[in-house]
Amino acid sequence: MQMRFFDDAESLACAAAQIVSTVLRENPQAKLGLPTGSTPLGLYAELARLHAEENLSFAEATAFNLDEYVGLSATSPQSYQYFMEENLFKHIDLPLESRYIPSGTAEDPVAEAARYEALLAEHGPLDLLILGIGTNGHIGFNEPGSSWDSICRVVDLAEETISSNARFFTGEGEAVPSKAITMGITNIMSAKKIILMAMGKSKAECIKAALSYEPTEAIPASVLQKHENLVVLLDDDAADLLGWMRF
Ligand code: F6R
Repeated sequence: MQMRFFDDAESLACAAAQIVSTVLRENPQAKLGLPTGSTPLGLYAELARLHAEENLSFAEATAFNLDEYVGLSATSPQSYQYFMEENLFKHIDLPLESRYIPSGTAEDPVAEAARYEALLAEHGPLDLLILGIGTNGHIGFNEPGSSWDSICRVVDLAEETISSNARFFTGEGEAVPSKAITMGITNIMSAKKIILMAMGKSKAECIKAALSYEPTEAIPASVLQKHENLVVLLDDDAADLLGWMRF
């Protein structure tokens, strides 16, 4: 595991973008795994800038999102598909047919998860997977207790995830969905390279739990310690409780 520490979220986002850019310049056909949420916003803005100003191209790349809420359509502003269009895809040259994300409105979500699993298997391991982390240690929507053998599936979101994500559902009558389709721990761990990003004081506890104790299914992100090509990017606040590991 390689750990890097940053004074602020902007420099962290630029470092993450440089890793993505290096992977893409070495292999323009790279398969990328992508998260949503607050964490990757700076990264996506920097990738858009690199595309506009420094010729970074996604034209031959493929992107697979980690997860999607069950019940939200691509036109719902809270859906992850909408998020990706707004924050990244409409700013870069990744072809429409190379953007994969589970459908939140499939009639049969279990079959949709199986379809997504088959798609990932068909394309082979991701070259680079970017992850955020939930305050309860989740990665993707693999909540505490998720099996390390898990694959793409429909999951119940933890209460902590539902209350934490309520900040995105502020309109009248809007509620956080209680289920999602997510890549499993097996899909995540089979990526060739993983970047874990975390910023802010609210992530200090889960980062400590994930990185400084023995890996356990109770803290999903702790499995990442077993990955042979993991880069952890943290701002000072998120790294605050790591003690000796910082030095
Ligand atoms: C989102 C995802 C989640 C988030 C995590 C952190 O696609 O997979 O695991 O990365 O919930 O969310 P933020 O970045 O909003 O703190």
